[in-house]
Amino acid sequence: MKRARESQALRPPAFEYQGAASEAHPAELYCEAVALEGIAARHGTPLYVYSTAMIRARLNAFAQAFRSIPYTLCYSVKANSTLGILRLVASAGVGFDVVSGGELHRVLRVSRKAASKVVFSGVGKTAAEMELALRSGILLFNIESASELQLLSATATRLKKRAAVAVRVNPDVSAKTHPYISTGLHQHKFGVPIPEAQKLYALAANQPYLEVAGVSVHIGSQITDVGSFQEALERVADLVRALRDQGHDIRYIDAGGGLGISYEGAQGDFEKQIAAYAKAVLGPLRGLSLHLLLEPGRSIVGSAGVLLTRVLYRKTNNGKRFLIVDAAMNDLLRPSLYGAYHEIVPVNRGTRETEIIDVVGPICETGDFFARDRKLPLVREGDLLAILDVGAYGSVLGSNYNTRGRAAEVIVNGARAKVIRRRESLRDQLRMEES
Ligand code: LLP
Repeated sequence: MKRARESQALRPPAFEYQGAASEAHPAELYCEAVALEGIAARHGTPLYVYSTAMIRARLNAFAQAFRSIPYTLCYSVKANSTLGILRLVASAGVGFDVVSGGELHRVLRVSRKAASKVVFSGVGKTAAEMELALRSGILLFNIESASELQLLSATATRLKKRAAVAVRVNPDVSAKTHPYISTGLHQHKFGVPIPEAQKLYALAANQPYLEVAGVSVHIGSQITDVGSFQEALERVADLVRALRDQGHDIRYIDAGGGLGISYEGAQGDFEKQIAAYAKAVLGPLRGLSLHLLLEPGRSIVGSAGVLLTRVLYRKTNNGKRFLIVDAAMNDLLRPSLYGAYHEIVPVNRGTRETEIIDVVGPICETGDFFARDRKLPLVREGDLLAILDVGAYGSVLGSNYNTRGRAAEVIVNGARAKVIRRRESLRDQLRMEES
């Protein structure tokens, strides 16, 4: 019998079910033109799988939304720093936001040229990291304290290298997001309160190798209320006017990252979301004639990745049902750390029958879970599941807890799937230790 061709987009243009779902012929989940069951059979599980098309689409959406103003997109490396992802992003000609010497090394590994589009953020830069960044010729240092400013000045003077600086201000604006990833209030360690920032600019202007160039702000991550961005940028715009009146040549505004994605249900229309975000960011900057820098991470790669995991066992404890899968909190920490919600779907979807169940990993902690009391289609031992929207803050937060090797990572481009990080072996794990 010939099956009707049918497809259902889950995360367009990356992940889609193909085929009509029935017990006999389940619909199969694809990443672009590659069946996920096939990738898992070839490379094993747990396995991160990313879509090139999705990342390109997101980069294009940013370019479209901000085309009215001179701007540079600086992809936030911390969201996903696997070299294969950085290479793809670099090939689109964009820049990078780094927060450590290690991240800068990763960027330089994929593109020496990209250094001129790198911004360096973070509250704890060391002299060695500053030196690497100065020698690489990065675009901008985002300074977060008077002491850091002094160390940068001393390092730049010693090396006779000029450093363009922005002060990262703390605008005291609530990002209305999870408290662990909210950064723009005075109670947080990030940035400098605006009145104090003015003093730092005066100090910076007197340093021979520092060049005052911009103002930077980042209020948090997974922000869905774009009004918070607008509020922060209104305060930043006022500061830019005041600094210009004081004679500082402010050319850049770095508006940070933070745009949220939809983790639950069908994905909203990203073009619409980004248009609203662009309006919130650009409105307060009107008439300032500035070069805008943006540091998105999650909104570029978040929806572009899934984590494939196989069901090891089904188990029932006094009526409570568990699926024990082969991925764990060491592979994906977000549910355990933030109580984050990630949709979980069977890669082969045949039955319409559902059950209420917890999806948990093999690690010896009750906190090792991916979903609790979740309504899921009935699956069997050996079945393959996909945990969605794990492209950002997934593999980067991986660890070796319980002496588990880090998962492998694969990137798909059309009909091709390429390993960009091989599975970590026990030998890899033990090679730094002595007994
Ligand atoms: N710029 C700065 C200075 C940042 O601190 C961050 C994120 C970004 C840009 C990128 O933000 P995004 O566009 O990705 O929201 N592990 C957490 C998120 C931590 C965010 C840290 N900073 C999570 O899994 O939700």
